[in-house]
Amino acid sequence: MSTPVSANIIATDIDRIAEAKGRVVVFVDESGKLNQPARRVNKLTRGALGRFLSSDAFAKMKPGDTADMAFPTGMQADAVQVVLLPRKLDAELWRKAGSAIGKARKSFDLLILAGNLKAVQEVLLGVTLRDYDFVDHKTGDLETGGTVTLMVADPDACAGVADSVAALAEGVFFTRDLVNAPANVLTTSEFASHLLALDKLGVAVEVLEEAELEKLGMRTLLAVGQGSESPSKVVVMQWNGGGDEAPFALVGKGVVFDTGGISMKPAAGMEDMTMDMGGAGVVAGVMKTLALRGARANVVGLVGLVENMPDGKATRPGDVVASMKGDTVEIINTDAEGRLVLCDVLWYAQERFKPTGMVDLATLTGAIIIGLGHENAGVFSNDDALCNAFLKSARAEGEGAWRMPLGEAYDKQLKSNIADMKNVGGRPAGSITAAQFLARFVKAETPWIHLDIAGVASTKTETALAPKGASGWGVLALNRLIADRYETPES
Ligand code: BES
Ligand code: MN
Ligand code: ZN
Repeated sequence: MSTPVSANIIATDIDRIAEAKGRVVVFVDESGKLNQPARRVNKLTRGALGRFLSSDAFAKMKPGDTADMAFPTGMQADAVQVVLLPRKLDAELWRKAGSAIGKARKSFDLLILAGNLKAVQEVLLGVTLRDYDFVDHKTGDLETGGTVTLMVADPDACAGVADSVAALAEGVFFTRDLVNAPANVLTTSEFASHLLALDKLGVAVEVLEEAELEKLGMRTLLAVGQGSESPSKVVVMQWNGGGDEAPFALVGKGVVFDTGGISMKPAAGMEDMTMDMGGAGVVAGVMKTLALRGARANVVGLVGLVENMPDGKATRPGDVVASMKGDTVEIINTDAEGRLVLCDVLWYAQERFKPTGMVDLATLTGAIIIGLGHENAGVFSNDDALCNAFLKSARAEGEGAWRMPLGEAYDKQLKSNIADMKNVGGRPAGSITAAQFLARFVKAETPWIHLDIAGVASTKTETALAPKGASGWGVLALNRLIADRYETPES
């Protein structure tokens, strides 16, 4: 598992700049006026920094951009990275600058001359989140190691910054590691054991095994996993940091691999379906962050862990199964399995916890990628207040999210001749009919959001704060939603 680099925040000591190894970061503003540490860098380099600031290259930089001065004379560092300060406190720009610093760090020691920067936390979060590499399965010389030091004018004013960045980054890295893991390694059992380890942080974790799921009547979930050698499981994670109120619920699709089952997917790109547990991965990451920062809220995370495989025992197209709710489903296409997993877990979450609100996350449909690409997750909701609060949190964290419609008219596409519903609604509005399917398992009194993260959970190109691969999309937004809406204020 990947551990975020932990930063050391200390008082500025400009006499240590000359000897600093690795990379040194200075911040400059558009006026070209140098702060105290930057003046020292300029002096040590005999004016090289000043010359850079009067260059065309500098003139072309936009706020938040960075540029390298390699192997500066008069310093032991390999590079001085110059950051053009954003003018206002725009978190996204500060994180972007941090991200450029984190991307360049590799295994170098890093000294950030933050001076009296106001946005130390945003910069450090950007550095830490971008400084991620999934190397669990690489051998040989790896670019890992090195230290991160921030020199600041007032270390007392930054108390808690390193810890709160670490709580966020640990959650995001947990999600990314799970999503990046190959399916022969991250089986349902392996996934469950990673979740069980959260009990060390004070999360109460239960694993419901197949016999119990059978007893509970979760036949649609079990129908998805019955062609796999890996046992299906539901894991329940409870963080009780609040009072006596009912919890807020997070529900995740955890298909550790999706072959499509008997309705098998084509070979090309099937390897990407190792990320089909992305929803469960985000739930896991949020729970970890909540525990690490001691959130004053009650939150329960539930994930359905299954593997969708073809086999003699696998579900066939045309099979009819009963959900825990009691509604019957005609499984027309075994590749529309995520909704079959979620509907039982959603129902169980409401029956057991009567949550004050519920968010599910799932890499549910290819259609959402056609609609929104990799920039936004699809957001579906039965509750404007909860939905708007989430959209606001996502915006604040720079995580793209776009609301999509629900409606009875779409629901008609799920009509079955022989059962209460079928599990696919045809090509038109594929993401919406998937959401309509889930909506049938959400009680009218439960404020609910469904997040279709198929396009954002893992990408082939790097994103603002992540290298290519798993992004951890949603951990920050959901953590913020819980902090802003469900947390009891400190007394
Ligand atoms: N896991 C897939 C959706 C998916 C596609 C996630 C691409 C990430 C990237 C899901 O289980 C699926 O197969 N959906 C089908 C539904 C269809 C059969 C109605 C799809 O989108 O094609
Ligand atoms: Mn599928
Ligand atoms: Zn799937």
